[in-house]
Amino acid sequence: MQDILIKNVRVIDGTGAPWFHGEVFVKDGKIAVVAKKVEATASRVIDGQGLVLAPGFIDSHSHSDTNWFLDPRGESKIRQGVTTEVTGQCGESGAPKRLDDQDAGQTEAAQGDAKMPTWSSFDEYLTALSRNGVGVNLATLVGHGTVRIAGMGYDDRRPTPDEMARMKEYMKEAMEAGAFGFSSGLIYPPSAYASTDELVELAKVVASYGGIYATHMRNEELALLQSVNEAIEIGHRAGIPVHISHHKACDKRAWGQVKQSLAMIDEARRHGVDVTADQYPYVATATGLSAIIPSWAHDGGPKALLARLKDPEVGAALKSKVELDQGDDGWYRLMITDVKSEKNKACEGKRMTEIAAMWGIPPVEAAWRLLCEEELEVGYVRFAMCEDDVKTVMKHPCVMIGSDASARAIDGPLSTGSPHPRAFGTFPRVLGKYCREEGLFPLETAVYKMTGLPAWRLGLWDRGLVRPGMAADLVLFDPDKVIDTATFENPKQYPVGIECVIVNGEVVIENGQHTGAIAGKVLRRGRSE
Ligand code: ZN
Ligand code: CU
Repeated sequence: MQDILIKNVRVIDGTGAPWFHGEVFVKDGKIAVVAKKVEATASRVIDGQGLVLAPGFIDSHSHSDTNWFLDPRGESKIRQGVTTEVTGQCGESGAPKRLDDQDAGQTEAAQGDAKMPTWSSFDEYLTALSRNGVGVNLATLVGHGTVRIAGMGYDDRRPTPDEMARMKEYMKEAMEAGAFGFSSGLIYPPSAYASTDELVELAKVVASYGGIYATHMRNEELALLQSVNEAIEIGHRAGIPVHISHHKACDKRAWGQVKQSLAMIDEARRHGVDVTADQYPYVATATGLSAIIPSWAHDGGPKALLARLKDPEVGAALKSKVELDQGDDGWYRLMITDVKSEKNKACEGKRMTEIAAMWGIPPVEAAWRLLCEEELEVGYVRFAMCEDDVKTVMKHPCVMIGSDASARAIDGPLSTGSPHPRAFGTFPRVLGKYCREEGLFPLETAVYKMTGLPAWRLGLWDRGLVRPGMAADLVLFDPDKVIDTATFENPKQYPVGIECVIVNGEVVIENGQHTGAIAGKVLRRGRSE
């Protein structure tokens, strides 16, 4: 591994402290020296004239779980300056899974791919990722939904004592393998079928290992505040740090309530419950289209759901409920991003109302046709939030940045569909739009929300800061130019202004180009590599 001397830069160290003129010397994958002037000769010198040097960004909310097996470069992440991501979010992780249930624990991108290794336990999954190679460092959470499927199937009911014991065993195994905590996805069945008590019981197991609880809450619309209450209650009862995922208010009638929810976080912290949150910098959400179907209809799993959609009586009842939920402009706010089959490709990038007009049927029928023909594998974005709320949340001192996206690329196997632009633009957008253009906070604060803060949240004590002894995850960017270019209409575009990215001391992005290096590590909590 080459020694690297980086000079002529303004260093923003990730603590939130003001920048300083300095030089950084990298040796054996670590930051060896940080000084005004470094007295050392390096085999490689990077002149960063005009650039900022910061710790590599930590994507505090990622869904790349199994995408790494399809393309280990993870280009949409690394080109934003991301050098570590936190996967296993929203209740879904790559493991554990029962060997007799091969597709249950996998994300859609991974299903049916021949190159995919097999694994069952969390430890085997992490080992498979390491063997495969990962373009950025990974810190993993174990998903509550994934554990529930492995422990008791896809049923809408309480676990039996035996099943509860099995789920705890899965949590234990994941934590011992090196997970950093667990996540819930309380709008997604089967995670949604859990009671608060079930989550508290499992959280206690995770807490005993020093892990965190990240939650996609039960409701981010009119019941937003009750959901925040539940999250805080779990933190209080289980003695676990609580992390609210992608904090937002998704319904016009709930806009503005983030002021109260953030006050609740402050209040909980005053009382000793350690609550934080992450956010992506956009006014649209993204998920699978089956999320528009009420959760009771998911009982038994995807096959059972499909059968209910197609059933004349149950299907009709579901349609009227979904139609009601969408309200006046719901279908217009909803844009299809990904479909599985060739025949519906023309729907990608179109609003539901456009698709309905194209087919000459009502929007609800068009949604049904897509769900049935694509066997539920349809992705969508929904324009549901407002700019004021995005800014209010972003400014809060306990809020960090997370893309809520999986790694994508503009070529190769991860280039399919028309994803939410957050996959390509999150970090440069915060730096360029919210920090530079809108002046929401100083650049040091923006960097802190992407580095020191998430590293602290996870207990990644050797990353997230520019300090001697830290892993050499670094990014050089142009503070006057950095910006996202990905849009909802044309999302597959890399940002500009991210000039150089170094992962574990290896240069991965240089002059805006990928060097081919795959330099990430699979991190295991409590272990140094
Ligand atoms: Zn989520
Ligand atoms: Cu998520």
